[in-house]
Amino acid sequence: MDFKNIIIELLSNYVLKLSESEMEEILEIPANAEMGDYAFPCFKLAKTYRKAPNMIANDIGNDIQKDITESDYISEVKIVGAYINFYVNKEKYVESILGKKGSLYNTTTDGKGKTIVLDYSSPNIAKPFHIGHLRTTIIGNSLYNIHNHLGYKCVGVNHLGDWGTQFGKLIVAYKLWGSKDRIENNGINELTKIYVKFHEEAENNPELEDEARAWFTKMENGNEEALELWQWFKDISLEEFNRIYKMLDIRFDSYAGESFYNDKMDAVIKDLEHKDLIEVSDGAKIISLENENMPPCLITKKDGSTLYATRDITAAIYRKNEYDFEKCIYVTAFDQNLHFAQWFKVIEKMGFGWHDKLIHVPYGLVSMESGKLSSRKGKVIYLEDLLKESVEKTKKIIEEKNPNLKDKEDVANIVGIGAIIFNDLYNNRIKDVVFSWDKVLNFEGETGPYVQYTYARAASVLRKAEYSVNNDNINYSLLTNELEFALIKTIGRFQNVVRQSAEKLEPSFISRYVVDLAQDFNRFYHNCPILVDDIDIKNARLALVNNVKEIIKTALSLLGIKAPEQM
Ligand code: ARG
Repeated sequence: MDFKNIIIELLSNYVLKLSESEMEEILEIPANAEMGDYAFPCFKLAKTYRKAPNMIANDIGNDIQKDITESDYISEVKIVGAYINFYVNKEKYVESILGKKGSLYNTTTDGKGKTIVLDYSSPNIAKPFHIGHLRTTIIGNSLYNIHNHLGYKCVGVNHLGDWGTQFGKLIVAYKLWGSKDRIENNGINELTKIYVKFHEEAENNPELEDEARAWFTKMENGNEEALELWQWFKDISLEEFNRIYKMLDIRFDSYAGESFYNDKMDAVIKDLEHKDLIEVSDGAKIISLENENMPPCLITKKDGSTLYATRDITAAIYRKNEYDFEKCIYVTAFDQNLHFAQWFKVIEKMGFGWHDKLIHVPYGLVSMESGKLSSRKGKVIYLEDLLKESVEKTKKIIEEKNPNLKDKEDVANIVGIGAIIFNDLYNNRIKDVVFSWDKVLNFEGETGPYVQYTYARAASVLRKAEYSVNNDNINYSLLTNELEFALIKTIGRFQNVVRQSAEKLEPSFISRYVVDLAQDFNRFYHNCPILVDDIDIKNARLALVNNVKEIIKTALSLLGIKAPEQM
């Protein structure tokens, strides 16, 4: 039983000119509880009814008021201006939310039988994993968890940047200035160093570029020496990436990177030619997108080598065949908008009806409050250092606030890493993130630690009460004071918030929601004593606390954050 549906059903007896789904779109939950638990604004009806919205609200509202005594579920209907405001029967409402025995936060079946492919993180081999990569990694991971929760089968793909002319440069640089030992000891750091040196030297010595191209051609032709070096660079890089994924507790279902498509691109290029989409310009193969007001999509360079877009087009076709996805989602910074718009168009021009199932999910940049990020001048901030620093800082805070805490190391890890993830997911993803330690680790603000602390608080109440779940003898009608009811209404929003965050591909809906929930809970906690003598009130409130605890845990897990039992 869902109150939203009850109200829609009720309304459908009176509002004959709108479909139920149209009404559902209009029905609101007022921010101010005094305006009702649900509100139906009549503005959109004005055109069809040829009447002023206020009058419509009045007419319909009056009719409903006359009949409402028949409903057990709605206690009152008020007309305010163009709004019809509904007040639910609190007891029934509370029971409808809490009496469900956990079905609220259990997996739904929305996505049953459907597959979502998510392409995220996808760092470039031999390049540092810096704070900019953090966003794709955790937004992608969260979108994975959200869809998984809704019952979709998810395939997380790490489309590693492991092919391209840069590897020719790296081979030349290694041969000239590289040292096996230094690379083995310092990993990507050292690879970056010689790569930067290559660019500096090539400014005065352009022949280096020719050499690099030649090495890349060797790679494309399967030259053993070239491929062995490339594989080694890749192994060294992956070792570092995997350390970070482990810290973040992130896994992928596939590591098929760009090189995976080497033997699959020819067929696609032939198909493009066969479909008459290719033009040759200066020896390069391109697809004109003039009619779409975009620069052409480059398929091969004049030396025959393929490009980023060639591999993306090939990968999409491969994934469609392999997974038959409902959606294929690509999470990257917004500076790749054009790239995705171009090759999505190529897929459409190829006549693939599924082109609209390809979705680019762009996000904004990260900057440090203390200064800009730069990958050029060696001032880059490595993600691994940032995560470690966060854990260290959290340790210090714990030492100050709660030195006797059990499992301090574990908690510091969960909170330190969680704080960074939460900070990243708290705003609309397209917004830029400014990183400031004071904000990230503020235990009182709208932060990960605040939500985790609230979780630990709920857990501690339940521990003290030796609570064990038993929904049978709960008298839900005891949970209808203002603060309890506000909290329960927030609980009731959860599943819808998850659905909307999947629809809009916005993890921030969940992070915002869980802060609301934590705030409502803390208001309740400070004003409504839980461990009281009256056993019925105590049991009802404990059941409420347990619900909140489970939802916080689920919501955090959807963001990729763990919940500590003590803090
Ligand atoms: N490797 C790319 C980069 O670091 C991101 C790849 C995104 N995925 C894709 N299929 N293009 O910018």
